[in-house]
Amino acid sequence: MNSFPVIAIDGPTASGKGTVASLVAEKLGFHYLDSGALYRLVALASEKQGIDVKNGPELGLLVPKLLISFKNSQIFFNGEDVTDAIRTENIGLRASALAVHPEVRSALVGLQRSFCQSPGLVADGRDMASVIFPDAVLKVFLTATAAARAERRYKQLIAKGLSAKLEYLLHDLQERDARDSSRGAAPLVVAEGAKVLETSDLLIDQAVKTVLGWYQSASV
Ligand code: CDP
Repeated sequence: MNSFPVIAIDGPTASGKGTVASLVAEKLGFHYLDSGALYRLVALASEKQGIDVKNGPELGLLVPKLLISFKNSQIFFNGEDVTDAIRTENIGLRASALAVHPEVRSALVGLQRSFCQSPGLVADGRDMASVIFPDAVLKVFLTATAAARAERRYKQLIAKGLSAKLEYLLHDLQERDARDSSRGAAPLVVAEGAKVLETSDLLIDQAVKTVLGWYQSASV
């Protein structure tokens, strides 16, 4: 049982869950866990160390050795600010490839649960409701069409001054969706009891309000 209330927000790549989850956390004064950032960190660190993404056991052993810290919205690895370095498409694909290994997933469980602190937590990812926080007071599955998600990701990358091509992004996210949904370990699924929020035609603000409303109803 979680000691503090948890809102679990899962969904496919570029569904807007990160933006919505961090805004919900801010409104409630809750902590925020971006679990995908942890998988991306493992991707970056293992690439630096030349570990093959197919080598589950070696990747699993690497996780406890990683010195990860968070300061506001920045992420540090061995003291180095890697906030932007982990956001590339290449690292996203690598993260998705190594996230299939049960050794990697189980090595990250304790770290993810340690984010559940007073007064509460909003956690986003793929298996927040199904595996990491099965007792979450509210479980949300946030989604949008592949075309809407590719366009959002495109705008995000361009806004950061990174180069991007819409058709490649669409292809990459479909590949990532297929892998995240079909893997044996903690596949991306709509967890039992989760509320589905389709955001293709919703503004961020509307999605945030919907989640806050659901949380109010769930916590009375
Ligand atoms: O930003 P985007 O939604 O594309 O991905 P992310 O949330 O940063 O996660 C990167 C990759 O890590 C995903 O494609 C998943 O394969 C994996 N992941 C996971 O398996 N479980 C989680 N709880 C979070 C991410």
